[in-house]
Amino acid sequence: MKKKVFLTRRLHDFALKELKKKYQIEVHSGKIPVTQTKLRSKIKDVNGLICFPYDKIDSKLMDLAKNLKVISTYSVGFDHIDWSYAKKKKIRVGYTPNVLTDATADLAFALLIDILRKVSEGDRIIRDGRWREIYGAYDYVGLDLQNKTLGILGLGRIGSTLAKRAKAFGINVIYHNRKRVSRSKEKTLGVKYASFQKMISRSDIISIHVPHTTQTDQMFDMKIFRKMKKSSFIINTSRGKVINQKDLVTALKKKIIAGAGLDVFDVEPISKKHPLTKFDNVVLAPHIGSSTKETREKMSKITVKNLNLGINDKKPIYSVGY
Ligand code: DGY
Repeated sequence: MKKKVFLTRRLHDFALKELKKKYQIEVHSGKIPVTQTKLRSKIKDVNGLICFPYDKIDSKLMDLAKNLKVISTYSVGFDHIDWSYAKKKKIRVGYTPNVLTDATADLAFALLIDILRKVSEGDRIIRDGRWREIYGAYDYVGLDLQNKTLGILGLGRIGSTLAKRAKAFGINVIYHNRKRVSRSKEKTLGVKYASFQKMISRSDIISIHVPHTTQTDQMFDMKIFRKMKKSSFIINTSRGKVINQKDLVTALKKKIIAGAGLDVFDVEPISKKHPLTKFDNVVLAPHIGSSTKETREKMSKITVKNLNLGINDKKPIYSVGY
């Protein structure tokens, strides 16, 4: 009998085709995300689960799973999975790093350019029929990228790739990491290490590239915003909960910081009525860091490979925990 696999939403057709050859698959097709009730009923007898960043896979859910061998997430982030519990239960957890590094760094840089050069704001001005003044000295004036200082929190794969983009545009890059990277990596990237406090207070733009963990939860709150330059911007393409979103709204209202470029939010999707949608100095993206055709196809391939390995009790290509 074929092993059973549940997908909390569909992947590319080529990936489904491959899965169907080997397994009895069921793809959730209703409202996204799948409800915990449905997930609980499905997890009971499946051998493999393919999930997405907004599916909460916790210990209670795993306790219901009698035959589960592998959880394969279609994401680099795995904060939605209690992977240490999975490890205890000898359930493999696969994820999709590397292939989305360029796409996510590109998006962070796109938000940076957009927020400094007011691209989205200009687009809204035209679409709303508000383009009155042409080419005036004070009209639609943004900021140069050159000679600005970008502070990167988390010089991992994505942070380092963003640093390369920034250097090419004449931006100075400082970074903070839990562990300082090697001097040779700093030299190659042309970046300088700074303490967290120094990075916060010296940067014109801060870009967040740390995972969401108990240590990074709500890391950027009012206390930190007050330490940033009044003229500075914050970019987030990692996880929304790294920022205290209420404090961010207050910081923007009170002009404690100058603006934000956000691809991730504490609750997704955010409503069009959310206070963040009211600021012209905020650029919003609907969690599209990895969302390019090429990258998403690669992610599907890896998700399937990880599942294939894990379901046969082998280590996924990219695995966390067991
Ligand atoms: C991920 O894969 O975790 C990212 O959030 C995608 O943008």
